[in-house]
Amino acid sequence: MGRPYFLTTPIYYVNAQPHLGHAYTTIIGDAVTRWHRLLGEEVHFLTGTDEHGLKIQQAADAAGMSPTEFTDSIAPLFQQAWSQLDIANDDFIRTTEERHKIGVAELLQRCYDAGDIELDVYAGKYCVACEEYYTDDELLPGDLCPIHKIPVQYFEEENYFFRLSRFQDRLLDWYAAHPGVIVPEFRGNEALGLIRGGLRDFSVSRTSLTWGIPLPWDPKHVAYVWFDALANYITAVGFGTDQERFEHWWPGRHLIGKDIIRHHCVYWPAMLMSAGIELPTGWGVGGWLLVGGEKMSKTSGNVVNPLDLIAEVGVDGFRYYVLAETPYGQDGDFTYEGLIARYNSDLANNLGNLLARVATVVGKKCGGVGPAPSPESPLAAAAATAYEATAAAWADLQPNRALDATWGLIRATNAHLEANEPWKAEPGPALDAVMGDALEALRIVAVLASPALPNASQAVWARIGLSGPVTGQRLPEAAAWGGYPGGLTVTKGESLFPRRTT
Ligand code: ME8
Ligand code: MG
Repeated sequence: MGRPYFLTTPIYYVNAQPHLGHAYTTIIGDAVTRWHRLLGEEVHFLTGTDEHGLKIQQAADAAGMSPTEFTDSIAPLFQQAWSQLDIANDDFIRTTEERHKIGVAELLQRCYDAGDIELDVYAGKYCVACEEYYTDDELLPGDLCPIHKIPVQYFEEENYFFRLSRFQDRLLDWYAAHPGVIVPEFRGNEALGLIRGGLRDFSVSRTSLTWGIPLPWDPKHVAYVWFDALANYITAVGFGTDQERFEHWWPGRHLIGKDIIRHHCVYWPAMLMSAGIELPTGWGVGGWLLVGGEKMSKTSGNVVNPLDLIAEVGVDGFRYYVLAETPYGQDGDFTYEGLIARYNSDLANNLGNLLARVATVVGKKCGGVGPAPSPESPLAAAAATAYEATAAAWADLQPNRALDATWGLIRATNAHLEANEPWKAEPGPALDAVMGDALEALRIVAVLASPALPNASQAVWARIGLSGPVTGQRLPEAAAWGGYPGGLTVTKGESLFPRRTT
């Protein structure tokens, strides 16, 4: 077996309830890791919550709670949302956990011992929503944060600084030696642009704040929330607490949104270099889901609750929309009409209709028993092409292309049925051959679509008479033509994806 596949999402701030933007990245991570599980790889999928810092402290104050009470009330909402969306994460880290605090202290100490953290005075303009200092030329007119468009605050305090400025050449050399490590490529170029544009040291501690992890050598300072948060990717797998486990999983790869490229592709690798830790094996950078052209965020007040959308199109319908609608890396515009249109065209009219047709004809003309496929089926080539293209697209972190490739087999099978019109044909070997081929195509579709549609794929699997979990299948074997044995009971059942109207 090759190296394990360790994938992370950002850990989300608990100042807001889980929204569509959080669900977007988490669903992509879930589908990608489900794909790697099908490939038989050893997978670890990590998500969690970012609970320290000024922004959370202020949210707790506003709610009239202590930070601990407040974070304890919000973190479970993320866990519940992920469970409702069938996210198969292997771990959920909260930065308020002991294992994390121990690992963060170890990381800070290593960077300090390496001479890359030093005391200095900081004066500057700070956006609390970003937890980030900005220079005047980065701010919008009126001293507004370029991301949140809210006023920044002037802070002046004694801080420890991480000497990021020393890492420019080392980072550029490393990226030059690891081409393609950030996908899509144009997002990688954004990261390189940030590094080439010059690196400023960044503050890694606060004295004006107590809601954080104390610096081990100077505990009147607490760690800057980003230093604390980034470390979750290693503390969750044992850094500082379980060296063997850490070595097993690390290095991992990260999925992030384009809003946090600087932290993940500049700060984080420099921190790891300083501490003498291997750098990540990859970064996938997603665009934003926009609502009316604006990034959805608590601060902008245009938040869509993903759990409301489950009520509209089901868990799988929602997951499918997120994965299929937007090329990964680009921004996407969320509209309710778009959600329903996607659902109706790809799920109700294509996959749902294919299953219903096949089950109806097998019920009426094959005595409800599915025939075996023919080895020489005209659909075998379509299945092989679908598998190759689906696998290549998941490997490239392009879920929309992967699903389109899988749907290519659904379209080919529907076209095959329309060309042969088995609903008009007499029972007999010719009809059996058409239906056996369609059942085999459905079997392969169920496997290939299972990372996106865990529930519907299992339903297809069971209705064509196959037993066990579809997630127990292994690729590439399970995509090879001829796996459907025939002789199994095919069940019609209720419509898998009833049509919706807006
Ligand atoms: O930045 N469209 O947390 P966060 C697409 N705690 N993705 C979106 C999105 C949108 N409108 N809004 C949020 C933080 N996201 C830090 C991260 S990691 C060590 C610390 C997704 O709650 C996207 O992945 O603001 C983005 O990067 C992440 O949520 C930011 O979540
Ligand atoms: Mg944010």
